[in-house]
Amino acid sequence: MRLWGGRFEGETDEAMRRFNDSFAFDHRLYAADIRGSAAYAGALLRAGLLSEDEHAAIVAGLAQVGAEFDEGRFQPLPSDEDIHTAVERRLTGLVGAPAGKLHTGRSRNDQVALDLRLWLLEAIAQARRDLARLQAALLAQAEAHRDLLMPGYTHLQPAQPVTFGHWLLSFFWMFERDQERLDGCEQRTAVCPLGAGALAGNPFPIDREALAAELGMRAATPNSLDAVSDRDFAAEFLFCAALAGAHVSRLAEDLIVFSSPPYGFVTLDEAFTTGSSLMPQKRNPDSLELARGKSGRLIASLVNLLVVLKGLPSTYNKDLQEDKEPVFDAADTLAVTLPVVAGVVKTLTPNAGAMRAELDVSMLATDLADYLVERGMPFREAHGVAGRLVRRAEQQGVSLSALPLADFQAESPLFGPDVAAVFDFERAVARRAVTGGTAPEAVARQIGEARARLAARQAGAGPASGG
Ligand code: ARG
Repeated sequence: MRLWGGRFEGETDEAMRRFNDSFAFDHRLYAADIRGSAAYAGALLRAGLLSEDEHAAIVAGLAQVGAEFDEGRFQPLPSDEDIHTAVERRLTGLVGAPAGKLHTGRSRNDQVALDLRLWLLEAIAQARRDLARLQAALLAQAEAHRDLLMPGYTHLQPAQPVTFGHWLLSFFWMFERDQERLDGCEQRTAVCPLGAGALAGNPFPIDREALAAELGMRAATPNSLDAVSDRDFAAEFLFCAALAGAHVSRLAEDLIVFSSPPYGFVTLDEAFTTGSSLMPQKRNPDSLELARGKSGRLIASLVNLLVVLKGLPSTYNKDLQEDKEPVFDAADTLAVTLPVVAGVVKTLTPNAGAMRAELDVSMLATDLADYLVERGMPFREAHGVAGRLVRRAEQQGVSLSALPLADFQAESPLFGPDVAAVFDFERAVARRAVTGGTAPEAVARQIGEARARLAARQAGAGPASGG
């Protein structure tokens, strides 16, 4: 059964048929397709285009098709070009003539646009739940290790002491922004294209607003040409996924470095590492390496869809059938990656001694300059003084804190015996108590805010507008 066979005399070329078919991947839209069709049957009933009996038969038949898919009993036929064809073909087999009325005024163009939106709303909800679990793992570790000192890096060079809690929370906020982006994406996805027809709109008096509400969507699309054309929501989701993937990848990279023996800042739980078939001593962070690697395919999916969309003429073109696989792949990739990374974070053990051992007094050179600033010297000048003292210590092969007071005073008369107090990592961290700073008291405030955000998310869990 070809839905479009009427004007054709001959058969479709076999290679072309396979090329054209999308059932192999778009069968994943079955629940969305059936939900959309049931709602559409209701709209046709209210528009006087279906009798009560026809409507009841269609709705019951669709439920049965849905159950067949749910239970893995659906028998596809080679003629099932796509999910829409398959559902309609089976519905016809089950309920006969009324099935032939379901497509009245509808096109697969508005149908597929709806299906992908409905499917994506579920995927967004899943991604948000998985992100929230990862955020919760970061937050729990940050609460446990709020005050733990570690070296902070820029350019991967030792820079200034920070706390492990502060480092963990830096990723919490990246994922929080990913959540916000998904909120926005969800808002724009939850708009109902059904009723756009092939491109020009539905000629029958269906109530599109009621249809949108029934499907848990915020509104009906305002322009039928745009409605069948638009895949912005899918591209937006792919961007959200790609950026979340980039954040995951950076977290993974830090942890790979921090867990490597020369650093030894964290120990990863055995449950998330693997061994080497050759080298018995190895314990490799494969979980994190895969998480880092998966970001490649997330970015590829975004680029894939953008390239498909760019240059398409208005409204529906079959190129748009290529929208689904990147979306499915990105959702699947997030769904396998985020729980593993959450598990890694939840089960890792920080090693206070190893972090402490990497703290070098030279990382307090800025605090030394600040000492002079507090005594009236302009910062630029103070920076120069501190720099010369660092070099002097280096030349003498001693640490900055071991230089005699006379050496300090030779550089500036502002130095007094109390300069010794500068060389204290806890003090350096505690000084940075501004909002967003690494001081334990500032991190405590940050934790409070993070807790509140996460609680708000968990309270409002699930798609904001149904779907
Ligand atoms: N399988 C198609 C897709 O995924 C459904 C829409 C087909 N529409 C059409 N005019 N041929 O895009």
